[in-house]
Amino acid sequence: MTDEKCPVQDWATDYDIFDEDYVKEPGPVWDDLRARCPVAHTTRWGGSFMATRYEDVQQAVRMVPELSSRSPTIIPPTGELREEMIAEVKAYGSENPPITADPPEHKPYKQLILPFFTPKATETYIKFTQELCHELIDRIIDKGQCDAAADYAQQIPPRVIARILGIDPSRGDEFTEWTQGVLELGQTHPELRMKYRRIIREFFGELVAHRRKKPGDDVVSTLLEAEVEGEKLSDHSIVGICNLLLVAGIDTTWSSIGASLWHFAGTPDDRRRMANEPDLFPTAIEELLRFYGPVMMGRKILEPVKLGGTELTPGEKLILNFPAANRDPEVFDRADEVVLDRERNRHVAFGIGIHRCAGSNLARMEMDVALRAWFERIPEFELSDPDAVTWAGGQVRGPRSVPVRY
Ligand code: HEM
Repeated sequence: MTDEKCPVQDWATDYDIFDEDYVKEPGPVWDDLRARCPVAHTTRWGGSFMATRYEDVQQAVRMVPELSSRSPTIIPPTGELREEMIAEVKAYGSENPPITADPPEHKPYKQLILPFFTPKATETYIKFTQELCHELIDRIIDKGQCDAAADYAQQIPPRVIARILGIDPSRGDEFTEWTQGVLELGQTHPELRMKYRRIIREFFGELVAHRRKKPGDDVVSTLLEAEVEGEKLSDHSIVGICNLLLVAGIDTTWSSIGASLWHFAGTPDDRRRMANEPDLFPTAIEELLRFYGPVMMGRKILEPVKLGGTELTPGEKLILNFPAANRDPEVFDRADEVVLDRERNRHVAFGIGIHRCAGSNLARMEMDVALRAWFERIPEFELSDPDAVTWAGGQVRGPRSVPVRY
């Protein structure tokens, strides 16, 4: 077993998704692995395999039940957290359905949540998102400089999803802290992950109890009325669904908006094109999702299966590296370049198969509104201190600080 602090010797047999240089620029490692060892392995962080080719990722999502979603985080929970999670799942069922559910349980939960995120439902949140983005820009525009990730990108998704869930958007910073606690910092710090998992579940537990007494016109009240296979949902399931909806869209969408602004701040030709050709937004957003797709997902290997010529060992995880698949030169021309007007773009930033992202319409809308508002008000900007840019890695990769001046 490799010491997690040792530098990587060979990425094919000892990759480290938290390696600082890799987190900053993973492209060269992905190119190397796709060519040399498309399903790599590591003993770090609980042991996992990682698929980097588009074709292998496509195949892996279909390997059900051999590969399970019951624990889709890349780093398995350990110690007290693991015990707590196992006990709850035994007593009450899947933790955060549908993302933690396998067929046949998965489908009815997915069907329950999809209506909240249809294109039509998403449209009703455009105005709120536009006003929010302009308010955020009002606060920073006269300063001539800001942190495009922390002061802008990070502020948008928690408030939009709060509004959708019927919880207080002004508590956005808390929701971000909770999400980072379970998904970002919590991945390598089990005590943090446990702390914030409990905070989130308690918060929604209280909300569910409240809505039972006093129903409203919101997501929780709708879920309280819903049925799966003729039975009302348990409080545990409703809390789990809300937990998923809160955290799934926060650092993911913030990473995508932040990475886009980082790209334009450091690539003046693309920035000028976006500022002068607003018709480019639809293809540009898909391309930014392809190139900077932030999310990798895990599957638990339950039975021995072969993927890309490699035997997967039961008990370990398989990482579906959607961002690496998105830069596969077998599938994309000029895969290692951002091509703002790319026409054919079958990227997998939102995953594929039964677990494909339920919030993709919402994420696209948020990116579109956030980037249009920014370009409308701040068309000229650049990195003010490239060395001060920081990135977070792991399950969700994206910039956390992007100082810009304008
Ligand atoms: C750019 C932003 C986003 C990206 C890149 C992204 C990516 C993903 C990916 C790759 C999956 C697949 C998981 C798997 O295969 O196990 C997923 C699932 C999911 N996402 Fe997103 N997501 C984003 C934004 C959102 C938003 C805004 C929401 C809204 C709440 C959301 C809700 C979900 C849900 C509920 C699932 C689980 C679907 C299922 O298990 O069937 N996501 N997302």
